[in-house]
Amino acid sequence: RIGFVMGKFVPLREAVIPVMDRGFLFGDGVYEVTAVIEGRLVDNDHHLRRLDRSLAEIGIANPFSIEKWTGVETELMRRNELRNGLIYIQVSRGVAERAFQYKDGLEPTVVMFPQFNRVQSNPVIKTGGRIITVPDLRWARRDIKSTSLLAQVMAKHAVKQAGVNEAWMLDGDEITEGASSTAFIVSASNELITRNLSQDILPGITRRTIIEIAKRHGLTIVERPFSKADVLCATEVFYTSASTIAVPVIEMDGVSVGGGAPGPVFRSLYDAYLQDVM
Ligand code: PDD
Repeated sequence: RIGFVMGKFVPLREAVIPVMDRGFLFGDGVYEVTAVIEGRLVDNDHHLRRLDRSLAEIGIANPFSIEKWTGVETELMRRNELRNGLIYIQVSRGVAERAFQYKDGLEPTVVMFPQFNRVQSNPVIKTGGRIITVPDLRWARRDIKSTSLLAQVMAKHAVKQAGVNEAWMLDGDEITEGASSTAFIVSASNELITRNLSQDILPGITRRTIIEIAKRHGLTIVERPFSKADVLCATEVFYTSASTIAVPVIEMDGVSVGGGAPGPVFRSLYDAYLQDVM
């Protein structure tokens, strides 16, 4: 695999960054994950705009223009013959003596690489996935796509131990979002419900596109917090992310949800999404 590391295209196995990088020492950086489907970057401008916002929120100057980012992404796809998978981008504040306070004007460290997992033919789309709930242990600025991911690493380890597909995180009684996805339910009155944007959750790019498609399909969309009890009486339950598109959920904490099978609202949104990108 060829990556793009500190300004150069290099075989990933040989790529190194300095140990004094603040991304390594402090998790002082942000990232993006963009899907590649049939050779095309999906919603890439929105991902790059969110990257720009994450950087601005933590006071790192965006090192590249949109054109430069897209150019490197395209070159990575070409060099790796990547037609289906993901492009990972990470920008950290840079290399400096270890100190919490940072100097302005450090040169940000850019690391990019492809991943080859095929986004669009996950068998769980047909069978439905299972989730557990875990406490949301993250910090108070979850709208920033920070590389400090310890709470999510712990949630995903619980996912592995439980033998399920994803964890939904709880702030009190309310679901915030998935460990690496946005949470959706369809209510008995056929409303598509997902948490409103705020500092409590990441503004998911797939969330944005799915809402756009749902509007086109004439669905009523309600952006508000919802609880575990709401999930238990939902007719459909699913989550979205760049790395999965959307996954229907048929079980939460060992209890059947969403009618126990992928539902028609999920199916139509998923199909429309794929049709839009292909
Ligand atoms: N994660 N919420 C969290 C906490 C996430 O980490 C992600 C994505 C999402 C969905 O956002 P989007 O639709 O823009 O991918 C929501 C990526 C895929 C990851 O960390 O690998």
